[in-house]
Amino acid sequence: MLDNLGNLERTHSCGALRAEHVGQTVVLMGWVARRRDFGPLTFFDLRDRDGITQVVFNEETARAAHAKAKQPRGEYVIAITGEVVSRAEGQRNPKIATGEVEVQARELLILNDARTTPFQLEVAANETLAAEDLRLKYRYLDLRRPQLQANLRMRHRMLSEIHRYMDEQGFTEIETPIMIKSTPEGARDYVVPSRTFPGKFYALPQSPQLFKQLCMIAGLDKYYQIARCFRDEDLRADRQPEFSQLDVEMSFPTLERIYALVEGYFARVFKATIGVELPTPFPRLSYAEAMRRYGSDKPDLRFGMELQDLAPALAGMDFPPFASALAGGGEVKGFVVKGGAAMSRKTLDELQEHAKRYGAGALAWIKLGDEVSSSLLKALGEETIKRMVEVAGADITDAVLIVAGRAKTVAASLGALRVEVAKREKLIPENTYAPLWVTEFPMFEYDEEGDRYYAMHHPFTSALDEDLPLLERAVEGGETKLLGQLRAKAYDTVINGVEVAGGSIRIHRRDVQRLIFKALGMTEETARERFGFFLDALEFGTPPHGGIASGIERTMMVLANTENIRDVMAFPKTASAADLMIDAPGAVDPHMLEDLHIRVDEA
Ligand code: AMO
Repeated sequence: MLDNLGNLERTHSCGALRAEHVGQTVVLMGWVARRRDFGPLTFFDLRDRDGITQVVFNEETARAAHAKAKQPRGEYVIAITGEVVSRAEGQRNPKIATGEVEVQARELLILNDARTTPFQLEVAANETLAAEDLRLKYRYLDLRRPQLQANLRMRHRMLSEIHRYMDEQGFTEIETPIMIKSTPEGARDYVVPSRTFPGKFYALPQSPQLFKQLCMIAGLDKYYQIARCFRDEDLRADRQPEFSQLDVEMSFPTLERIYALVEGYFARVFKATIGVELPTPFPRLSYAEAMRRYGSDKPDLRFGMELQDLAPALAGMDFPPFASALAGGGEVKGFVVKGGAAMSRKTLDELQEHAKRYGAGALAWIKLGDEVSSSLLKALGEETIKRMVEVAGADITDAVLIVAGRAKTVAASLGALRVEVAKREKLIPENTYAPLWVTEFPMFEYDEEGDRYYAMHHPFTSALDEDLPLLERAVEGGETKLLGQLRAKAYDTVINGVEVAGGSIRIHRRDVQRLIFKALGMTEETARERFGFFLDALEFGTPPHGGIASGIERTMMVLANTENIRDVMAFPKTASAADLMIDAPGAVDPHMLEDLHIRVDEA
C-alpha cells in the first residue's frame, strides 16, 4: 500500500542540511539512491536534484518506521520526517555537501514504488556507464544522474544570463516562425506537409537567418532570439538535428561593435556559469593564418604545436612523395611534439592511421632520442633530416610529425593530428579557456564533384569592401576562378577548438545580392522562386546590418567540459536522428497521410 502525500510539506532539499541544522526536525522527500541494512539500523541515501542526504532508521527509537523501511528499494519515492544529527567522527563523508550530518528518521511515507531500473543509474568514477542507446531509451532515468542535472541547471543559468545581457545591451527578443519555406543553408531541410495546399511543404528553419534580416529591414534595429534550428545533416559528436542558437542581428554595425558585443556575451556567460573571467578582447586570426599555422579554422590555442613549413629544408631532394607534392603546388609540413621521442612505434602507427582518416597518404616522423631516428632517413639522408629538424624547431627528446600532399590535405590531417597528439600526450592544460576570432573566411568554396562554388557561410554574407571588384570581374567578366579568392566579412568565435559562434556582415544592396546568387550558379528565375520575397524587401530601404549566432549546446559543451553534445540537452537524438525514448520518427495513421495527399513508397 502506498501512502498519500497529504499536506506534508518538505522543509529542505536533499542537498541542504549542514552542521548548523543539527537538532532541527526536518521533512525530506526524494528517491532512494541506496539502502543498506545493518540489523537494528537501516540506512538510506535519499536523493533529489540538490544532492544526497543519509537517512537512518533506528529500531530502538523508531520501531514502526524501521520495520517499514524494509520495503523501499532503489528509486522508490519516499518522504521522511526526522531529526538532524551530527555524524560520529570517522563516519563523516567529505565527498558530499551534507556529509557532516544525517537524519534520524521517525516517520516514513512510501509515496511510490519503482521497477528495477534497466541500468545502474549512478556509477563510481572508475566504472563505465551503461550503453548510451539504453540510457537514451530511458532518458528520464539517465537524467536522474547528478552530472546531467548539473549540466541542465548550468544551461538554465546560461539562458537567464543571456536574456539579462541582451536586454542590457538594448536588444529585443523577437520570435520568428518555425513553419517556413525551404531556404537551404548548406544542410537539408526538415519538411512538414501541408494539408490545405496539396503537394506543398513547409520547411523547419535551419536558422532564422532571413527573418532576422527582415527584422532589420523592418527597422527593429537590434534583434535577438534563443532560436531552435533544424538541420538534416550528417551527425557528429558535436551536432544535433535540432539545436538552439543565441541568434543576433543589428543594424548599422561595425565589425568592432559586433566583436565587442559577443566578447561581452561570452565573458558574462562564463562568469555566470563556471565563475571564469574570460580575458577580452579575444585575439584574432584570419582564416588563412589559422589554416597555415594550425591546419584548422577552429584552432585550439590552449597548446602550441604550430605547423611548420618544411619545404625550405628540402631544396634539391628528390624523394618522390615530397618532390611531387611540392612540384604540384602542394606542401610538406610538420609539427614538433615536445618529449615525443619517447613515442612508441605502435603509437606512431596509430597516429598514421588517424592522419590517413583525414586524407594523408602517410605520416613521416623524426625522433630525436639518443640518436636521430626517422622513417625518412634512407630516403632523405642525415643532412636533410637535420635541416628539417632545424626548420621545425625541434630539440633533443622531441619528435617531428610530417605530412606531404595538397595544401588542403596537409592542413586537414596535421590539424587533426595536432589535437589528437595533444590529447594522447596530455599536453592540454585543464581549466584553461582560449577564445579567439577567426576572421576573413573565404566567400566561396569550390566543390570539385559538382564543379561549382558554394557559399562558405551563407549567400547573404558581404565580401570585404576591397574584394568587391573581384566579385564583379568573376561574375560579369567571366573570371570565375576569382571567386575562390574573395574574402568575406564573416567571423567565427572559437573556444578551445570548438566553433561556438559564427556570423557575418550581410549584403544590404540588391545589386550585390544579385551578383552573389549569380556566382552561386542561380538563374534570375531560381533566385526569384526561392528568395523573391527577400529580393523585394531589399529594395525598400535596407539598412547595413550584420549579426551572429552562437550555438547554445556547443558553448555548453565547453562549459561542462564534455565532448558529447547529448550531455548538455534534456532529450537528445541519436547519431541517426532518432529519439529512442518516444520512438521517433514513427509511422502515422494512413488517414492522416490521405489528408496530407501523401502516398508512401514502401520500397
Ligand atoms: P552557423 O550555421 O555557423 O550560422 O551556426 C551558428 C552556430 O550554431 C552552432 N551549430 C550547431 N550546434 C549544434 N548542432 C548543429 N547541428 C549545429 N550547427 C551549427 C555552432 C555554430 O557556430 N544563420 C547563421 C548565423 C549568422 O550568420 O548570423 C548560422 O546559423 O555553434
